[in-house]
Amino acid sequence: MFDKLKDYSIVYSFDQTGFKRHARHFSALNPTAVAGKHFLVTGGTRGIGEAVTRGLLDMGARVTVTARTDKDFNTAFADVEGVHFVALDLADFAQVLTASFGYFDGVVLNAGGMPDQLTIIDGQYDTIFASQVVGHYFLMRRLIDERRIKPRSPIHWVSSGGMYLQKLDLSDLSWQQKQYDKVKSYANAKRAQVILNQLLAQRIKGYVFSCSHPGWVGTAALAEALPGFTNKLGARLRTPEQGADTILWCLEQGIKLKSGNFWFDRKSRKTHPFFWTREREADRLALWNLLETAWHNHQSIEPRAETSVN
Ligand SMILES: NC(=O)c1ccc[n+]([C@@H]2O[C@H](COP(=O)([O-])OP(=O)(O)OC[C@H]3O[C@@H](n4cnc5c(N)ncnc54)[C@H](OP(=O)(O)O)[C@@H]3O)[C@@H](O)[C@H]2O)c1
Repeated sequence: MFDKLKDYSIVYSFDQTGFKRHARHFSALNPTAVAGKHFLVTGGTRGIGEAVTRGLLDMGARVTVTARTDKDFNTAFADVEGVHFVALDLADFAQVLTASFGYFDGVVLNAGGMPDQLTIIDGQYDTIFASQVVGHYFLMRRLIDERRIKPRSPIHWVSSGGMYLQKLDLSDLSWQQKQYDKVKSYANAKRAQVILNQLLAQRIKGYVFSCSHPGWVGTAALAEALPGFTNKLGARLRTPEQGADTILWCLEQGIKLKSGNFWFDRKSRKTHPFFWTREREADRLALWNLLETAWHNHQSIEPRAETSVN
């Protein structure tokens, strides 16, 4: 009862005390479920993605990690075996469609951030939506089309609890009609990921789609994007390893998971605790159509079209 109240408080659920309380019911991950397998982790060079990568390596898997630069990779994984780097800017669709990849037993779509500056990609989206939703969708779509993800493999989206207060809004993804708001854009992209995970589970059979949020984790992204919040929470923030736990658990569970569910601390969770964030079926369809149309339009690969604003 008291634990339930703490969960409702959000703060005592998303923070480190929440993780420790929930983890009392966790059992150790089974390394044999992932050993010898090959995973792709976007944004695997630092923060939560680095912790996912380390967790997979510790269990005997091989990992390909992507990021825009290899700076953090070279620091984090110098002399570490079984891990390989591919440079990939997810907001550069030409790169997403041409980067060289192997074959995978699981994919973690983790890369993300909250840039202060508005940069418009393809004349249609800000960088947040372009990289976290469109770029990840193209990457996943391409890997599936090229049969680079083995059938029945897990495909996991790393969303955020920030999406709980956000209703999907596709009306002005390049911020032409309103002042750019990075927090709102981020929450909208994370809401889109949650919906997409459900749509993919309905429409693409043969893979296990899952999505999670990691709680509040002390990483470079959080410190840069929300310094006041980071200072306030201080030591109460989760460690990257705690943030990575549910992602690793979803990969380990594999086909035991119901495709399309949303997870937090190894439990399936509601995606709409508040009725006012519920999207209409037409909005879900609009998201799907937007991504499929963009995907088909990019089949003849074009150079990046980028406009810097302010
Ligand atoms: N930290 C939290 O409290 C928290 C809470 C909820 C959700 N999340 C989510 O968890 C994920 C990981 O976040 P984090 O806190 O671990 O962040 P982080 O420490 O800043 O790591 C982000 C990773 O993504 C890469 N990346 C960023 N933008 C990219 C782009 N446009 N294209 C390709 N790679 C890109 C970064 O490398 P480069 O900069 O070299 O590209 C880095 O490897 C994100 O999706 C984030 O939204 C985090």
